Amino acid sequence: MDVFEAMETCRAIRFFKKDPVPDEMIEKIIYAATRAPSPGNSQGWDFVIVTDRGVKEKLSHTIRVMLEPAVHAMEVVRGGFDKMDPVERRMLKGALNLAETLPDVPVIVLVCGKAVYPPDAPAESFVWSALYPAAQNILLAARALGLGSCMTTFHSLCEADLHHLLGIPKDMHVGAFIPIGWPDIEFGPLARKPIEEVIHREKWEG
Ligand SMILES: Cc1cc2nc3c(=O)[nH]c(=O)nc-3n(C[C@H](O)[C@H](O)[C@H](O)COP(=O)(O)O)c2cc1C
Repeated sequence: MDVFEAMETCRAIRFFKKDPVPDEMIEKIIYAATRAPSPGNSQGWDFVIVTDRGVKEKLSHTIRVMLEPAVHAMEVVRGGFDKMDPVERRMLKGALNLAETLPDVPVIVLVCGKAVYPPDAPAESFVWSALYPAAQNILLAARALGLGSCMTTFHSLCEADLHHLLGIPKDMHVGAFIPIGWPDIEFGPLARKPIEEVIHREKWEG
């Protein structure tokens, strides 16, 4: 698949079929992640691949305890899902579905990293600049293979579980929690601002 087609149709997939994903595909996706740029080519990333149902059930429970009240509070503020902007509604309903169905999602990839750059004074700020390009490569590689995925910060809702259940070392940050599986909705196209709104030629005007 042409890389532009992959980018154009790589929408956040939060509805998945239960069919398993071959391990070779996951390895290919992690290979793509490790082709990403990083500060000084420090490659300060590690990837935890979670397929164990028991672990996914526990994560789902913890995430839902945190997420559901937050989404319902938002629903009250907006006066109901029906009054929401359709993009926001789709995102929130999708996030609730993803949290609920997490045990059935075939694979979760946790993109992790610790401060390794610069070598003489490792700084946390550089952790994210390595993990986010790697995460984007995961989304695109999955899309190119016909798999759906979604960048999420669900790890922030179950951080203690991740470190405890999966033995992730304390000095290791989790930067992305990415579910991967065969999509149960259509890919793209994406709703994004036109480039005319974001380009500033030679100098900033308008
Ligand atoms: C840093 C970051 C954090 C995100 N966190 C979540 C999340 O916790 N849960 C979720 O369902 N989607 C999450 N998303 C996905 C965004 O909601 C999604 O990329 C955006 O709404 C655009 O969706 P689209 O690509 O389908 O158009 C996150 C995306 C980014 C880049």
